[in-house]
Amino acid sequence: MPRIGDPAPSFTAETTQGPINFPADYVGQWVIFFSHPADFTPVCTSEFMTFAAMADKFAAYNTALVGLSVDGLYSHIAWLRTIKEKITFRDMHDVEVKFPLVEDISMEVAQKYGMIMPGEDSTKAVRAVFIVDPKGVIRTIIYYPLSTGRNFDELLRVVKALQTADHFDVATPADWRPGDRVIVPPAGSCGTAKERMAGDTDGVECEDWFFCTKEIPADEIDRAIRKK
Ligand code: BEZ
Repeated sequence: MPRIGDPAPSFTAETTQGPINFPADYVGQWVIFFSHPADFTPVCTSEFMTFAAMADKFAAYNTALVGLSVDGLYSHIAWLRTIKEKITFRDMHDVEVKFPLVEDISMEVAQKYGMIMPGEDSTKAVRAVFIVDPKGVIRTIIYYPLSTGRNFDELLRVVKALQTADHFDVATPADWRPGDRVIVPPAGSCGTAKERMAGDTDGVECEDWFFCTKEIPADEIDRAIRKK
């Protein structure tokens, strides 16, 4: 089962957008690779409509979407056509899913990624999310059970948090959103710890030597991480 920090396991497969070679096709981009339990099911339908409606928001942060279930290609195609032609969810209708949906009847890819959890269901993938960075390294793994639809604002928040952490060499605290104060790395020496506590470090405010924050305005973050 892959872990955070591991290279994303590679695979080739058919998708609703043609063949895929993952993660090689996505070098230089962030990717959210996610699984859903089954085509033609309601929670999954609501998720696909939401993801498709938000695809441009993810693309603005250089983030592609790739879905997978253990259904076949023709089932995927028929389901995505039905979604576009018939389904309304909240204010979404006529939604076209333009990102690839991987067919995985053999469950080979789902097994490779630890998406099958037999205690939950041995013939369906759980709702797994892998956020993969531009070098093909897994940076986040989130699992949801079959009954619970994902929160897509949270996935976008995590993408922005990872990109902010990489660009500014900071960490992000609980419930962080761009514009909130960020955590600066812990003081690496007694001297730095003393300077920080004395308030001598530009813009850095410390609660204690190990808990220091600074402001990065939301527009500065956006200029740094938004796709040019
Ligand atoms: C759904 O997407 O609605 C669903 C799929 C599998 C089990 C339960 C719900």
